[in-house]
Amino acid sequence: MNLEKTVQGVRAQVKEWRREGLRIGLVPTMGYLHEGHKSLIERAVMENDRVIVSVFVNPIQFGPNEDYGTYPRDLKADMRLCEEAGASVVFAPDVSEMYCDDFSTFVDMNGVTGELCGKSRPAHFRGVCTVVSKLFHIAAPDRAYFGQKDAQQLAVIRHMARDLNMDIEIVGCPIVRESDGLAKSSRNTYLSKEERTAATVIARALLAGRTMLENGERDGDPVLCEIRRIISTEPLAKIDYVEMVTWDRIEIHHTADVPVLVAAAVWIGKTRLIDNFIFERE
Ligand code: PAF
Repeated sequence: MNLEKTVQGVRAQVKEWRREGLRIGLVPTMGYLHEGHKSLIERAVMENDRVIVSVFVNPIQFGPNEDYGTYPRDLKADMRLCEEAGASVVFAPDVSEMYCDDFSTFVDMNGVTGELCGKSRPAHFRGVCTVVSKLFHIAAPDRAYFGQKDAQQLAVIRHMARDLNMDIEIVGCPIVRESDGLAKSSRNTYLSKEERTAATVIARALLAGRTMLENGERDGDPVLCEIRRIISTEPLAKIDYVEMVTWDRIEIHHTADVPVLVAAAVWIGKTRLIDNFIFERE
């Protein structure tokens, strides 16, 4: 497995693979990789001949008071995980390699970004769409892999790929959880022991909501009320949002009569965590 720091290096490798007729998978990440990322890489390895994992903490998707500066980084550990999972190349560029001094072109989107994280983090998806488009241009993959934990991001990328005629299959992969239900996230490392225990309330609350829907409830309001109630029993938790939206246009929807995404963002102390489930009536 190779480490590439430059766009030119990745391009040269991709060109060679293309000449050999190989299929390429891309797993975009911000590093500090965990089992969730590993499951994406392993799936990509199964479905493609070569896999590129990008490790890049993208400054333009963080707001001014967010955690860009403190976002955890450990390239050595990331390299080990990628190697174990069977990746061929890790692309870990510096910020200056991705954004030149007078960088001035952005990819933005209406609609799908109007609710949930797009509402709480106004410039976030503009940054995500811009960097993912760049990675798509650099790696020219056949398929790209994203986790469902960032469900709105997955919907946003699918819309972007469709709208901009990117000939790339966008593959969504299931959420990977800790044994107590907490969705795996690089940001879990910010949590103190007490906060780590408190954070399990998010998955518990979502599971209670999901069970209501599975038992036949179709009205979203009591489901959201119950999720909010359970989260509010945890003193360290502060709700950013708990919403039901259509999957995958991400529009507020009050009835589970179409496939819906029930999503939550919750502050546990100073750490904002997200989690969700998709419910589809049988
Ligand atoms: O999900 C992430 O880690 C990031 O948003 C992504 C897709 C790698 C873009 O920076």
